[in-house]
Amino acid sequence: MQESELIKLAYEARQRAYVPYSHFGVGAALETADGRVFSGCNIENASYTPTVCAERTAIFKAVSEGCRQFRRIAIVGGCVKTDAQAYSSVDRTGRDDRRQAADTMEESIFSTPDYCPPCGVCRQVMAEFCDPKTFEILLARSLRDYKVYRLEELLPLNFGPGDLL
Ligand code: THU
Repeated sequence: MQESELIKLAYEARQRAYVPYSHFGVGAALETADGRVFSGCNIENASYTPTVCAERTAIFKAVSEGCRQFRRIAIVGGCVKTDAQAYSSVDRTGRDDRRQAADTMEESIFSTPDYCPPCGVCRQVMAEFCDPKTFEILLARSLRDYKVYRLEELLPLNFGPGDLL
């Protein structure tokens, strides 16, 4: 699968984010070693602490379906209120200052203003199942504008299964 396809799946998952409190929608698409994809969105709660991040939704969906070998994850996030502005300015002009890199309407819609790095808890959950040296984390703000990190860069000197098992 191309990186842009995985990112698009993350954007599609973000559309299902349940974010009535923060209005910050996150989507993740996790690719398994055998090429399957599990997506996830963040799901908030009136009691706040039960809120779960998009990345953990995706990872827990995969593990609960029997997959524990992962290649990479694409993550996108941003305030859902700015989505409406982006769409309306695309409607008006077909372009938008923030989206000069976007050639097409599709690329304009599948975009967010900033990269969304995974929180510390999600990095720790990744370290449980993923090889920090090889697992890739794609932080995207459009289908073409993204950065790729290895887990070991985002969670150096991690405490993981190797410390206990
Ligand atoms: N969030 C994620 O889904 N993933 C992250 O890595 C960062 C934060 C969610 C949690 C909460 O619903 C909202 O973003 C604001 O923190």
